[in-house]
Amino acid sequence: MNYNWYSRYSDNIKDYEGYPIGKTLKYLADPEIISLAGGLPSPEIFQKSEFKIASEKYLNSNIDKIMQYSAIPGEPSLIEAIINYLKRDNINVNTENILVTTSGQHGLDITGRLFLNSDDIVLLDRPTFAGAIVAFQMQKPIFVGVDIQEDGSDVNGFKEKILALQKIGQKPKFMYVVPDFQNPTGITMSLEKREVLLDLSYKYDIPIIEDSPYRDLRYYGETIPSIFSIDQKRGGENVIGLYTFSKIFCPGMRVGFNIGNKEVIEKMTYIKEGNILNTPKYNQDLCTAFLEDMNYDSHISKSISYYREKLNGFLNTLKVYFPEDTGITWTKPEGGLFLWLTLPDTIDTDKLFFEAIKYKVAFVPGSQFFGENHARNNMRLNFSFCSQEELTEAIKRLAKCIKDQI
Ligand SMILES: Cc1ncc(COP(=O)(O)O)c(C=O)c1O
Repeated sequence: MNYNWYSRYSDNIKDYEGYPIGKTLKYLADPEIISLAGGLPSPEIFQKSEFKIASEKYLNSNIDKIMQYSAIPGEPSLIEAIINYLKRDNINVNTENILVTTSGQHGLDITGRLFLNSDDIVLLDRPTFAGAIVAFQMQKPIFVGVDIQEDGSDVNGFKEKILALQKIGQKPKFMYVVPDFQNPTGITMSLEKREVLLDLSYKYDIPIIEDSPYRDLRYYGETIPSIFSIDQKRGGENVIGLYTFSKIFCPGMRVGFNIGNKEVIEKMTYIKEGNILNTPKYNQDLCTAFLEDMNYDSHISKSISYYREKLNGFLNTLKVYFPEDTGITWTKPEGGLFLWLTLPDTIDTDKLFFEAIKYKVAFVPGSQFFGENHARNNMRLNFSFCSQEELTEAIKRLAKCIKDQI
């Protein structure tokens, strides 16, 4: 007998088909494929021996507590370490402004659940982080996108959308941005634009969600203050910051944190109570050790040198295999893990993906990073995970694949 499960699914989920990137992963099982698709940090910079030492220390001193339930807002020792970590970035928060999450993705999920009813509007960049689109999509909002520019979000475009919505009696619930080395483009928002975005937030009373997984991974140029810190300096409380240990420490721990206004964090804590209760104490303890006992500055500076070299090599390879006459262009990130390739608009990268698999190379088709009105001729390329040799070989294969399609 075939039971009709579909009719029982919630309206929000009924027609939801999962994370598109997740669907492409099954094509990458072939070990001969060089994948530039994932957002994986390199295991070469993982602090493996320090991890083992910290792990042993916590297991030896605290195994009863590690094996037990723990505090929903997060381990007090980790929260303390986060407060100190953020001070270095000119952010001043207290315990009640922090919720430890079980990864950045969890932080996004909680944010969507807290703010969005179905048909609420989310203002975001085109393209933007696919995981945020997926997390927010659970609440069935309407995404309103504005094409990102070389120096970050098109803040004038954001304003135009806000005014157009105002005319029909609507207002975005929040603006979502990844200002530092955005996933997928690698683009960084200028200081001027961060200020203007805040002006918009104050004037039109729209909060900003600032997602910052890559902020410490800057390979070139000067650090730009986070929107959260500028807001604090201007006396506001309009920004919620989302952070994760995934890219700077390791994704395996699945630990992150959200920061913001005390009442917002309290509500977020109630949501966490209902969805996962607590983040594993062991994982939090290792993140505390990462911030406090694993020589943070030297680790980050090693990571920066390592990724900078990879990015350089990758950019040089792109120049060799995609000369100007191909019409192919790409972003030149100052940090992060990705860059964004734009192909002639006759090429649909959703289709090209399957051709590329035949050439044993993979990327993420650009269409996956649009909340609406998906563009088809881009791809996201990751340069952090593969070796230099693999990166070069991957681009060689990709260039051949593209040439054969044109
Ligand atoms: C912009 C952005 N936000 C959040 C996340 C999620 O991070 P996590 O791996 O901790 O879930 C990512 C991961 O790629 C990301 O790029």
